[in-house]
Amino acid sequence: MRVTRGVKDLGTNAGATGSHIIECEDGERYAVKFAGRSKAAINEFVGQILAKEAGLPVPDSALVHLSGELVATSADMRYRSIAPGLHPGTVLVPNAFDLDRWQELSSRTAASLENPDALPGSICHDNWILTVDRDRADNHLVQAADGRFRYFMLDFTHGFAGPLWTADSLEQAGYLRILVPVHPLVASSVAGQASFERTLARIESISDSRIEEAVHSIPPAWGISDEEIECLVDFLELRRGLLRGVLTSNLSSFSDSVL
Ligand SMILES: Nc1ncnc2c1ncn2[C@@H]1O[C@H](COP(=O)(O)OP(=O)(O)O)[C@@H](O)[C@H]1O
Ligand SMILES: [Mg+2]
Repeated sequence: MRVTRGVKDLGTNAGATGSHIIECEDGERYAVKFAGRSKAAINEFVGQILAKEAGLPVPDSALVHLSGELVATSADMRYRSIAPGLHPGTVLVPNAFDLDRWQELSSRTAASLENPDALPGSICHDNWILTVDRDRADNHLVQAADGRFRYFMLDFTHGFAGPLWTADSLEQAGYLRILVPVHPLVASSVAGQASFERTLARIESISDSRIEEAVHSIPPAWGISDEEIECLVDFLELRRGLLRGVLTSNLSSFSDSVL
């Protein structure tokens, strides 16, 4: 993943994890989550890479290097003992809003997304890596640009059944066969198995070596153990194989599913 350096802290961002908006030397503004004691940064890093591999729209991402001097400029970062070094960031998508606002706008104006396949596609990814909070409207973004609307998936912190996973919890979660929670608008985008096919086939075609490469490129400073690396790879490879069955056996739970 690309690396850029933070040059200015613009303060805390919306959301529960207290990410910061950081201006970087490439001229972009990033929403940066902090590597620390939980696995939030690891989940973001792996979740984003695999979403891109699956052909799903995610904001551009980079590893943002925060210097000790930059951390020291922020009372919040100092208080939270943010470690200087690399942290995962996504380029801020301008003119974007959450899925509830999109639902309201699209019902009022009949506006449509230019990438509607990404909605059922997000369900495939979420049930592959077990992202447990994609039912939240604010973990989806819709960008308005020149009268067109583009969907983005956002926030992988609660992948792997949550950012406090361990080798043991991951081993158990790997076999889960129920669906993770889904936002009602996303559920209503499913019109039978065919809605999943494109993303599902992409996920099924991601090779073991690509998965291993993604997991092994997690920055070592984030403190993932060799055992956890191994479990993460096993989890992803196991669930890649289970995913089709999990989605097919739960098709009836999607409101618009047609048989
Ligand atoms: N790349 C981005 N572009 C635009 N808005 C963003 C971006 N990243 C985050 N946000 C906004 O910040 C909020 C919090 O980010 P998110 O990744 O969901 O973190 P949290 O784990 O705190 O919920 C999102 O709901 C969204 O409104
Ligand atoms: Mg969020």
